[in-house]
Amino acid sequence: MAQVSVADRTGRPTAGRVAPSVGAPTRLPLVVGGLGACVPERCVTNRDLTTAIETSDEWIMERTGIRERRVVSAGQATSDLAIAAGRAAMTDAGLTGADIDLVVLSTCTADSPMPATSSLIARDLGISGGAFDLGAACSGWPYGLVTAASMLTAGGGRAALVIGAEVMSMLLDPTDRATLPLFGDGAAAAVIMGTSGPALGTPGAQPTATPRPAEGHGPGLLGWDLGVDGAGADLLRVPAGGSRLPATDATLAAGDHFIKMDGREVFRRAVRCVEASCRTTLAQAGVDPSDVALFVPHQANSRIVDAIVNRLGLVPERAMMNIDRYGNTSAASIPLALCEAAAAGRLVDGDLVLLAGFGAGMTWATVLTRWAYTGGGPAQPSTLPA
Ligand code: ACO
Repeated sequence: MAQVSVADRTGRPTAGRVAPSVGAPTRLPLVVGGLGACVPERCVTNRDLTTAIETSDEWIMERTGIRERRVVSAGQATSDLAIAAGRAAMTDAGLTGADIDLVVLSTCTADSPMPATSSLIARDLGISGGAFDLGAACSGWPYGLVTAASMLTAGGGRAALVIGAEVMSMLLDPTDRATLPLFGDGAAAAVIMGTSGPALGTPGAQPTATPRPAEGHGPGLLGWDLGVDGAGADLLRVPAGGSRLPATDATLAAGDHFIKMDGREVFRRAVRCVEASCRTTLAQAGVDPSDVALFVPHQANSRIVDAIVNRLGLVPERAMMNIDRYGNTSAASIPLALCEAAAAGRLVDGDLVLLAGFGAGMTWATVLTRWAYTGGGPAQPSTLPA
């Protein structure tokens, strides 16, 4: 695929990269039929963490931009959040499970190794189309969006439910101040609909998107860049609990089921990779950074986002940020920010919206869309009672 790159961002020659085709027409036409999000009710502030680890509200705020995060209560799992978010998105779209041809759940915190958590979502939402989990860590949602849009376009499907959902708190060492403050739990979803098939659902509105910058592009995915630098796979990982190091008393005692991260190196790579990936994606569509109406980056660290915005020359006020209230929710972070932006009226049909994720793997995924939304009106995230 011309848009997929398997490369690092160190300046070495890139294997498999194909030059972007500037000014190509809309590659994957689609509209967003509905949006939904759900977060746990339980809120853990920076101050709450000071009783468990040696840290301060000031340090966490200054170094990360995080003030609080949502954390599930005992017995709550990724599917609980994902089902609530998915149901909200379907309701917003005026669709039932019978209308959904595909569920893609991006997550690195599945309920259990088997079955796929997407099966549990399909069961509860009455969906019998295809369903699978996708693992690309914090890049997972834009990876899922490109995957679902490609499948709808190739297979003539009508609607797909693309969910990002995580219970990152299950992977956190409660004594590790380098990771405990960073992550939170949550889920968000979008119903995406192909533009060529028969009309679906009760709203049935036609998108009002009109081409502005990037003349000739209709609503949908105008460009994307998916990539991985597997040489950096050890920089952010959970060593145990899989086939390489199955769970034993020894792995539990060693804390090997928790996230291990080289934060400084991840930070450095995130800035460099996302900048390069955004440039590649914008070039594919012949779009200038100043034409981006909303930048929705993965919410890992506000300093990472500031650096990317600076380097790309994006308008700072057009960067969507909600990390202060949720922390890093991995695959849920981009759709959660997208839902909040839509609910706040920050998205207008025809806008150019740039989504950019980066995470363990090390993976990255950037998508440029021309926004078109036909739902009933997105709500702020619902809460899963504690
Ligand atoms: N509270 C107080 N002090 C702390 C804390 C804390 N929670 N954590 C670390 N420190 C201390 C360190 O011990 C160190 O002290 P020292 O100088 O005495 O040794 C000092 O603060 C500086 O530590 P650094 O690790 O250099 O701090 P840095 O400014 O790099 O911030 C951070 C650390 C926030 C983790 C940053 O590196 C970062 O955000 N990296 C990216 C991580 C990330 O985004 N990961 C996820 C991306 S991919 C995905 O989303 C899955």
